[in-house]
Amino acid sequence: MSHQNVTILDIQQAKHKGRKLVMVTAYDYPFGLMAAEAGVDIVLVGDSLGMVVMGLDGTVAVTMEHMIHHIRAVVRGCRGPLIIGDMPFMSYNTSIREAIHNAGRLLKEGGCDAVKLEGGVDFASTVEAIVKAGIPLQGHIGLTPQTASALGGFKMQGRDAAAAKRIIEDARALENAGVFSIILEAVPAPLGKLVAASVRVPVIGIGAGVDVDGQVLVTHDMIGLFDKFIPKFVKQYTRIRTVILEALEHYKADVIDENFPGPEHSFKMSDAALAELKKMLDIAEPDGN
Ligand code: KIV
Repeated sequence: MSHQNVTILDIQQAKHKGRKLVMVTAYDYPFGLMAAEAGVDIVLVGDSLGMVVMGLDGTVAVTMEHMIHHIRAVVRGCRGPLIIGDMPFMSYNTSIREAIHNAGRLLKEGGCDAVKLEGGVDFASTVEAIVKAGIPLQGHIGLTPQTASALGGFKMQGRDAAAAKRIIEDARALENAGVFSIILEAVPAPLGKLVAASVRVPVIGIGAGVDVDGQVLVTHDMIGLFDKFIPKFVKQYTRIRTVILEALEHYKADVIDENFPGPEHSFKMSDAALAELKKMLDIAEPDGN
């Protein structure tokens, strides 16, 4: 049975109905399950995986194999939301043929419903070819983490009028190339509003203000599991790291103090079987037993 309930059409229609889209990231089975249970529209297996799960400094070293491994785990748990697999750096940058091949692998081997790649005008022909091959694609513009160093780091984009205009042109090029939605990252809120008004496809913001068609956050940022750095646009809904740390420290103390395992966590053996075993092993019973 397919895991899919939310369709590409649902995502596209949400904008026209004025319904905000809710999108989060997930990288494994339990988070896939929880995202579905929470009723989000879209789950992205993002290449942010490299930073928040693998402990890398950026996303550049993430490979197709990493992505397929994690997409599979999410797909096993996530029933309902549309699942998007991120195309890692250099899986779509060298040739259109390779881009189509790799996008197809994420669907066929990973089991996701759609793919995402970073880039605007410069990648329009690649996007068009992937979509023509029958693979639904989400664009990603503004701050594009795979090429963050070329953009001057993890910084807000579209600061001046010329740069802002280029971002609107990126969005239009992606729409013309056939994307079903666009991620817009780290731009001034008024620009977010203009980009959303410039295209018919939903624009899902991450640090793009409230006047876009939906929001996405990296789940590990939002729940306070990853706090190496916290971007300005992240709202921490909980600090789950503190809860986990307390549990680990409590467990450590219990083991050292022999408070764990208690009788309720231990398996029993009948007195007769124990006595017989001791006899077999020639273990003397203490006096009186
Ligand atoms: O990889 C990722 O998690 C992303 C989100 C920031 C949209 O691309």
